[in-house]
Amino acid sequence: MSETLGGNIFVTGTNRGIGLELVKQLAEKTGPEARIYACCRQPEGSGAEALRALATQYPGKITIIKLDMSDEDSISAAVQAVSKQIGAGGLNLLINNAAINKPAVPALLDVTGKKDMMEVYETNVVGPFLLVKMLLPLLQRAAEKDSGDKMSCRRSAIINISTVISSIEKCPETFTMAQMYPYRTSKAALNMLTRCQAENFKINNILVTALHPGWVRTDMGGKEGHLSTQESVYGLMSVMSSLSNKDCGMLLDWEGNRIPW
Ligand SMILES: NC(=O)c1ccc[n+]([C@@H]2O[C@H](COP(=O)([O-])OP(=O)(O)OC[C@H]3O[C@@H](n4cnc5c(N)ncnc54)[C@H](OP(=O)(O)O)[C@@H]3O)[C@@H](O)[C@H]2O)c1
Repeated sequence: MSETLGGNIFVTGTNRGIGLELVKQLAEKTGPEARIYACCRQPEGSGAEALRALATQYPGKITIIKLDMSDEDSISAAVQAVSKQIGAGGLNLLINNAAINKPAVPALLDVTGKKDMMEVYETNVVGPFLLVKMLLPLLQRAAEKDSGDKMSCRRSAIINISTVISSIEKCPETFTMAQMYPYRTSKAALNMLTRCQAENFKINNILVTALHPGWVRTDMGGKEGHLSTQESVYGLMSVMSSLSNKDCGMLLDWEGNRIPW
């Protein structure tokens, strides 16, 4: 059991892929006091069956919350719903995991248009921006429960799930295999959001770090990915457990290696 993760945890995009596995391993590895708010667009839909089964397996520990990251009203409603349940403890860990990659891979320049750019930016950048803005009082509340300036994912943290192909420095070596203009630019913007939030919230001792999960076999990553969701999330959980002040405002991979911006 990971004693270094726990408390109130909010995860987006949890009905499939890495998000679903995050909820599973968080439920398994945290203590009985942990509360996991697992968000998805359609909690009642057929695409959320596995998540509903998981919530049934951990009654009281996993709560499913309806949340569409591209819709400001939906974000506001989800934050209100969670605020009512969280109470005095505040929010210890927010994982911004939900994201889209459009148009369909290989997403070459000639088939990519304004609509793709705007939709991807809205979900991958604007959504996480608004969500953090609205959850900030709860994150601050959790941070204030501890004294001192030590940051951790157990105290109060924002994890933005990014990708190695967001790295501007690494673009010359990664561009050909994954052109994806909307996705790459949105994740580079998410990195800047991470950096800005890290600067903004360090006064509150809230840790903000971007993590690359590896190339993972999911709907987004495809069948050729190097890692299963189990392997990726095992790594992410271990990295999250060990994050501290030195990692605030950084981009790391699932093994804890630093990736250049
Ligand atoms: N897989 C990889 O190789 C890889 C590599 C690097 C980084 N990542 C990052 O890892 C994270 C998870 O990726 P994944 O591979 O698990 O992707 P995935 O299998 O495509 O799952 C994406 C999740 O995001 C949700 N989502 C999409 N749009 C949403 C919206 N507007 N509001 C709320 N939820 C929304 C999806 O819900 P619906 O079912 O409702 O669509 C789904 O639960 C993403 O941030 C991705 O960029 C993945």
